[in-house]
Amino acid sequence: MKVGILGASGYTGEELINLLLNKKDVELVYITSRRYKGKTLGEINPRFKNTRFENLKFEEVNEEKILNCDLIFSCLPHGEAKNILEKYLGKIFIIDLSQDYRKDERAIYGLTNIYDVYTKHPLKRKYDVEKLKKYKIIANPGCYPTSIILPLYPLLKANLIEKDFIICDSKSGTSGAGKSLKENLLFCEVNENFYCYKPKGHRHESEIKYVLNVKNLKFTPHLLPINRGILSTIYFRSEATLKDLIDLLKDFYRNDENVKIIDTYPQLKFVNYTNEAHIYVDYDEENKLFIVLSAIDNLIKGASGQAVENMEILKNYLLKG
Ligand SMILES: NC(=O)c1ccc[n+]([C@@H]2O[C@H](COP(=O)([O-])OP(=O)(O)OC[C@H]3O[C@@H](n4cnc5c(N)ncnc54)[C@H](OP(=O)(O)O)[C@@H]3O)[C@@H](O)[C@H]2O)c1
Repeated sequence: MKVGILGASGYTGEELINLLLNKKDVELVYITSRRYKGKTLGEINPRFKNTRFENLKFEEVNEEKILNCDLIFSCLPHGEAKNILEKYLGKIFIIDLSQDYRKDERAIYGLTNIYDVYTKHPLKRKYDVEKLKKYKIIANPGCYPTSIILPLYPLLKANLIEKDFIICDSKSGTSGAGKSLKENLLFCEVNENFYCYKPKGHRHESEIKYVLNVKNLKFTPHLLPINRGILSTIYFRSEATLKDLIDLLKDFYRNDENVKIIDTYPQLKFVNYTNEAHIYVDYDEENKLFIVLSAIDNLIKGASGQAVENMEILKNYLLKG
């Protein structure tokens, strides 16, 4: 399968290339970057020296090159992604990591886990298959939303959560903001520092509400002075027992080796550099509140690892015909 990556020189692009190295049926034929145009992967990143992708050169975004691929991953910034991708909808399979198509009716929202990849994922629904055949685009979920939707989706689906009060307090490492130069992300601004950066109206809040179909959900993001990882602390009320909630989550994810319902507090060191989500549920009797802790690596489970899971679905159900 011939694969291309737009925006391959950024953080998610690098992780994606690394994950694709292990996919023997993937031939990476096209990678783009304006900064590194003409340079090889091996020259820019020693991680790829002595690998089968070492001599692949960064190129410009080019229509002919895009259409020559079976599948394009887009790791472009939001806004830029839609500008570039729109004209290819329906012509070539696309997995877009930006937010641009996440609330677009033409795209499949690709959180594979919530559909259970092996039994009832979206492509088993005729409507979604038809949509994907027509527009050929999967919108890869956001990183913060992934950490929040994974625990909440099954509980809401089973009507176990009071929908009018859900609080999500999330912290992310700085790679979540991408590799382009920004003053507020310089080492001296981030190191030894910690702050909330958008207490109201973050774009991920509307994505989470849209996917979970809830109106009252508060999401607050914070910037951690570390490279990667997301920890979300989620509060809600429920008439169910703690055991009910844990049993339901364990059952929902029983076939999914990447989503683990654990009985210790999740820590970033155990999820970083993996495609796993670690979820812990507890009940605070005094405040009559349930608490969920959910940890993922923003660049893998929250981006490129999940994009590869989406690629596997495409491969199994569509590319083979
Ligand atoms: N970082 C995360 O944790 C994370 C998680 C989930 C989703 N996402 C989403 O995934 C996408 C990529 O994120 P990232 O963190 O990898 O970003 P990044 O590190 O900033 O990389 C962006 C890539 O796009 C290229 N690019 C930027 N502007 C462009 C333009 N106008 N035309 C063509 N190429 C352009 C850049 O290379 P050149 O500048 O050299 O062209 C670079 O290769 C974003 O939409 C982001 O919101 C990120």
